[in-house]
Amino acid sequence: MKAPQVTRTVPALRRIVDAYRRRGDTIALVPTMGALHRGHLALIRIARKRARRVVVSIFVNPTQFAPNEDFASYPRRFTADLAALEAEKIDVVWAPSAAVMYPEGFATRIEPAGAAQAGLEDKFRPHFFGGVATVVCKLFTQAAPDFALFGEKDYQQLRVITQMAKDLDLPVKIVGVPTVREKDGLALSSRNAYLSAEERAAAPVLYRVLKASAARIKQGDAVELVLDDGRNEIIRTGFALDYLEARHALTLEPIASRDEVPIRLLVAAKIGKTRLIDNVAV
Ligand code: PAJ
Repeated sequence: MKAPQVTRTVPALRRIVDAYRRRGDTIALVPTMGALHRGHLALIRIARKRARRVVVSIFVNPTQFAPNEDFASYPRRFTADLAALEAEKIDVVWAPSAAVMYPEGFATRIEPAGAAQAGLEDKFRPHFFGGVATVVCKLFTQAAPDFALFGEKDYQQLRVITQMAKDLDLPVKIVGVPTVREKDGLALSSRNAYLSAEERAAAPVLYRVLKASAARIKQGDAVELVLDDGRNEIIRTGFALDYLEARHALTLEPIASRDEVPIRLLVAAKIGKTRLIDNVAV
């Protein structure tokens, strides 16, 4: 097995991707914050099908965490991640330090609107999409990918990045990948590691409610009624609910009627100290 090249500076990465481009090799980028799990690996496998070369970035991006969030405690498992990536036969690991990504004097920020101001994640993490859009735009410039893969797990993020790539004419095709789940429905997330045994047992309620709500809306039940039932069930299970909403799947705007399609149901809720998000199509 050939170990991927680990690069830590922009010129080193550019030398590698420029060489790929000169040979006519297509490039797919999979942006991650590490602590890789089967969800990330699903993105990588699709990346390998799309492009000759796969670059995986591992960067815990400080600008998308608020001061009260889990930046310091976010799981960092670089050695285990490298072993997993070696098994996936990817080409390059792009692992810049914060000082490489944001050198002294760094002063530019992308401020996404539209889906980034839908009143979902943005309402609870106002700094989040600015931080994500800025770092992802930089990752695109650094790795010059033909394709970039993002999980539907972070659905609003996928919409924001798709919009940014379109608005800024970035020459990259954004590919969304379906959410990978545990057997009981819980969406895989690096943050699931924070859950106690009891919280872990309660966590699948989010997906259960999403699926049941989607089925009822499809059948013709009134959307607000269905959502209220779902909200109550999530709260009864011991979660502090941030939102359970039905939105237009592309714009993430509120839907005027259930005949508006496509519809996406999105949820965010906290159990103990851990905040979980999930979503499904109706
Ligand atoms: P991270 O949470 O590490 O996720 C990296 C990518 O993996 C994202 O596109 C995310 O949607 C996807 N992913 C996570 N869990 C998944 C699952 N269960 N099934 C399918 N895909 C899943 O999202 C980020 O990092 C960051 O915001 C980033 C885009 C890297 C910018 O810093």
